[in-house]
Amino acid sequence: MIRKVQSSKHATSRRSFLRKGLAVGAAGATGAGLLTNGLSLPAFAEEGSDSLTKGDVAILRFLSAAEILETDLWRQYNELGGIQDSEVPGGSGSAAYIKALSVLDGDMDQYIHDNTEDEFSHMAFINAYLASQGADPVNLDKFRTLPSSKATGAQHIGRLTNLMQLTVDTSWWTRYRSRTQNPDLGGTFAQAIPGLSAGQFPAIPRNDGDLAPANHIQAIANTAGFHFGYIEQGGSSLYPTLAQGVTNLEVLRILLSIGPTETSHFQTWHDKAGNAPALTDPKNGLVFPDLNASGGEDTQTNLIMPEPTVFLSRKFPVVSIIRPTQIAGSGGAVATIKSFTADGLFIGQSQEFFAVLSELAQQADAARRGF
Ligand SMILES: [Fe+2]
Repeated sequence: MIRKVQSSKHATSRRSFLRKGLAVGAAGATGAGLLTNGLSLPAFAEEGSDSLTKGDVAILRFLSAAEILETDLWRQYNELGGIQDSEVPGGSGSAAYIKALSVLDGDMDQYIHDNTEDEFSHMAFINAYLASQGADPVNLDKFRTLPSSKATGAQHIGRLTNLMQLTVDTSWWTRYRSRTQNPDLGGTFAQAIPGLSAGQFPAIPRNDGDLAPANHIQAIANTAGFHFGYIEQGGSSLYPTLAQGVTNLEVLRILLSIGPTETSHFQTWHDKAGNAPALTDPKNGLVFPDLNASGGEDTQTNLIMPEPTVFLSRKFPVVSIIRPTQIAGSGGAVATIKSFTADGLFIGQSQEFFAVLSELAQQADAARRGF
């Protein structure tokens, strides 16, 4: 069967047809092959896999762009701090950076490698799926203009993202510990590492001068540790948020199957960030405080699973959930690009780059189930 992207008009009229069938069935005019409620199973199966709405395509195209961006940044981490092999080629590693990362966990290089490989696979799969449906895959190659790190071990190629001037939002740390606040209900959250959200800091060594003294490269590794959590909690929210606008069941299956791998990454990084040692960077004064010093749950480092919190309405009991999952405030595609921009990931990018991303994000957020 040749699969084509259907216009939303077509998809809507098809659903109208199905609804008409339901109405007829309810009136008692059920025919052969129809269930008693008037809906034929084959028609539903086709609806689930045969046609994508414009909204489905918009959601997949934005997710493709997001995965391309994730791949670009993870690749930079892997070249210097991960394992370079046939699965994730490129770069040759920075011994001092890898050693500093290993303070967070002895397997950091393996985890960085695996997260990078996963992002590559997400990007390649979503683009291949779009093409299989007659939709345009996303290609951001023309924007690979940002410089690479000059540290030994990095490739010297154009990048989409900048990991050398980050302003990392670490409020995800307290957001997942709060039992009374949810961003979807207007909650706000304190920074775990206030210094990281008030300045520009490298998460990879910019050059070999960044490899010493020890507390400077450790601060860079700590920054990376919190940035890993920031990036992957974003993916953990983005997929369930956009899934609510999907119409086609196969597209829904894609979002429901990829999204939780972002959460799997987040869970790992959430655990590792808590091992970042307290220190002050002797070169720029960046402070990583002792998160257990206050004795409160909001920063306790072994609380790595989501604490139950309010969801949908305060009339319900608290529940352990991903947060946010609503297109508003901090959730959705536009909010993701806004957050990535505030993170410093795109410092040096062109106006055209922002325009392209903004268009993709707005179209994804505008998708509504059934249209
Ligand atoms: Fe991903």
